[in-house]
Amino acid sequence: MTVDTTNDTTRSHRDLATDDAALTASRRSARPNFDAIASDGTIDVLVAHGHNALAAGDLQVAERDLLDLLEIATVARRESEILRLRTAELERLIRAHTTELEEHQLETFERLAVMAEFRDTDTGEHTIRVGDLSAEIGLELGEDPAWCGQIRLAARLHDIGKVAVPDSILLKPGPLTPEEFEVMKTHTTIGAQILSGSSSPLIELGSVVALNHHERWDGTGYPNGRGGVDIPRCARIVTVADVFDALTSKRVYKHAWSHDDALAHVLAGRGTHFEPEIVDAFVRVIGRRRP
Ligand SMILES: [Fe+2]
Repeated sequence: MTVDTTNDTTRSHRDLATDDAALTASRRSARPNFDAIASDGTIDVLVAHGHNALAAGDLQVAERDLLDLLEIATVARRESEILRLRTAELERLIRAHTTELEEHQLETFERLAVMAEFRDTDTGEHTIRVGDLSAEIGLELGEDPAWCGQIRLAARLHDIGKVAVPDSILLKPGPLTPEEFEVMKTHTTIGAQILSGSSSPLIELGSVVALNHHERWDGTGYPNGRGGVDIPRCARIVTVADVFDALTSKRVYKHAWSHDDALAHVLAGRGTHFEPEIVDAFVRVIGRRRP
């Protein structure tokens, strides 16, 4: 059977003539960017036009449409590469800026810790040691290393509230009267007030430590008489480190205890002043430190 395709071919040629007119403008214009080409319908028109040309047997027109499409694909590839490079550069700039901000924040944090320490000793070494020991105890307990890194820094601000305690009390060489001790206790709540409400998780952690580092496992501490696991874990760790380091340090109101005496004091407070599991971890850490 013979099939007459004259009408189809004629229709296709007519379509091609119409489409040629539509394509003229886009062919004449340069291709400024792929987004413009993709949104103005040029690609769809070229594809349809090429199909029609193939159907009509007009290979020359079909080839021209194909070359146009290849040109568009090249533009798209080039623009995609430019976009990728620009994105990578922006990401690098953001990372560098973020690191710089974090370094500034850390420096401010450390200067704050030194300022707090100057209130009752002449160096910032106590807070550094408490931070280091707290982090080591945390690691010994199997806590997340990143969290332990935060504790190392947050612990350094545990006594920042002492900035509001008068020298006559803070530096008193003898025992405090009950009234003076009440004032001394406020360094926990004042410290928490100074640090709370920050958008920085590190400073917020410092606030929790400042508020709770004089609470006791048996609930007889201050300022809130919290006990057991009601005391935040970070503060339960810092409490052990703070007491041990304070005992082995010289202050205006006390001599420095020997390592063994301070260790014995911490062990005596296992289950009353301190959480037993944390004391056990502390003993292992201290044991490894000894020569
Ligand atoms: Fe304290």
